[in-house]
Amino acid sequence: MKVYSGLAGIPVVRSSISYIDGQKGILEYRGIPIQELVDNSNYLETAYLLVFGKLPSVQEYESFVNDIKNNLNLPNSILQFLKDIPSDTHPMKVLQSIVPVLSAFDENKDVLDSEHHYSALVNLLGKVPTILTAWKMITEGRKPVEPDQSLSYGENFLYMLTGEKPEKELAEMFDKCLILHAEHTINASTFTAIVVVSTLADFYSCVSSAIGSLSGRLHGGANERVYYMLNEIKSVKDIPEYIDKKLEKKERIMGFGHRVYKTYDPRAKIIKSFLEKIADKYGSNELLEKAKVFEEYALSKLSGKRIYPNIDFYTAVFYNYLGIPPNFYTTVFAMARTAGWIAHCKEYLKENKLFRPTQIYDGGHNIHYVPPDRRL
Ligand code: COA
Repeated sequence: MKVYSGLAGIPVVRSSISYIDGQKGILEYRGIPIQELVDNSNYLETAYLLVFGKLPSVQEYESFVNDIKNNLNLPNSILQFLKDIPSDTHPMKVLQSIVPVLSAFDENKDVLDSEHHYSALVNLLGKVPTILTAWKMITEGRKPVEPDQSLSYGENFLYMLTGEKPEKELAEMFDKCLILHAEHTINASTFTAIVVVSTLADFYSCVSSAIGSLSGRLHGGANERVYYMLNEIKSVKDIPEYIDKKLEKKERIMGFGHRVYKTYDPRAKIIKSFLEKIADKYGSNELLEKAKVFEEYALSKLSGKRIYPNIDFYTAVFYNYLGIPPNFYTTVFAMARTAGWIAHCKEYLKENKLFRPTQIYDGGHNIHYVPPDRRL
């Protein structure tokens, strides 16, 4: 027997949800190239595509969006729960702890029932943005902002986060950024979600577990670290020395590298193009200027190893531009990825098999218990 460390390259499912060609930098959702979705779709329509396997008809789309809008508001008990959590708790932990509690407000509890799949989907897509933004307001000693049903998904999130209606064009780019975050084959968090659903735990437990998995800095948590990394550099001229030192110490450059992409991450390319448009129209900022020089120098050192910027590198810069606090960056990723996690859980249940890998035991045998007073 051989151990497949990190399961790298080992298929664990058959899936028709998304496809990556890591050599060519291709990403498709249900066969549709990501750029085409970004150019033509919005987050909720893409979420529908991922979960139900087809683009919705006009009526299907309207009723899906209405069901989500009807789930935007939080029950008072959840608001109270948020108020009782210590205010320095990381937003990812807050989200991870509240998501399973939402199951209490869902009548459809049977994970094998498609009613559960739908109600968990609309309940989570509706409430996650409201939980996150309410949490931000509560930690600032402010009153949570009521959702505005007339706004798009991304626009409403930015509105509830600050209490101010965002610039239309920026909100649209943000909503498209959610499309880019919505799904990405079997990565660590999606694998976590399907492991949990394979036990027939409900979708709330699956999403909560996936949030925990996403929070780590080798996965979604990287975007927050990208901000701290760029912020740590005092001036653009210090960038080469900063990168050289990190590489000498064998430290990871956050927002660079990917297990699957061995070329430029197509999602990073799209976000970078948004930032170029933003800089042209609204003006650049310090972080964006640093990021551009950082990318150029880091590439001169890392592209030989086929290490390029990933989605987290430029989303950190974009979220900073939008005024999203750094500790909320990964929660934006989680909010969008909820659709992908649910799509995979739903798909996995069609041919469910409990995950139960094996191990190669390399410990001892017949070792005897030693009472505490005789231990060395
Ligand atoms: N900075 C510096 N070196 C990196 C690197 C990075 N971001 N990512 C990979 N490497 C180097 C490793 O040090 C290793 O070098 P070595 O062969 O000389 O020891 C080599 O590339 C392979 O690393 P490995 O960890 O085996 O590759 P992986 O495919 O498993 O790595 C990640 C994927 C994402 C874990 C890795 O690129 C990483 O840690 N990136 C930073 C965190 C991040 O941005 N995560 C978000 C991913 S979307």
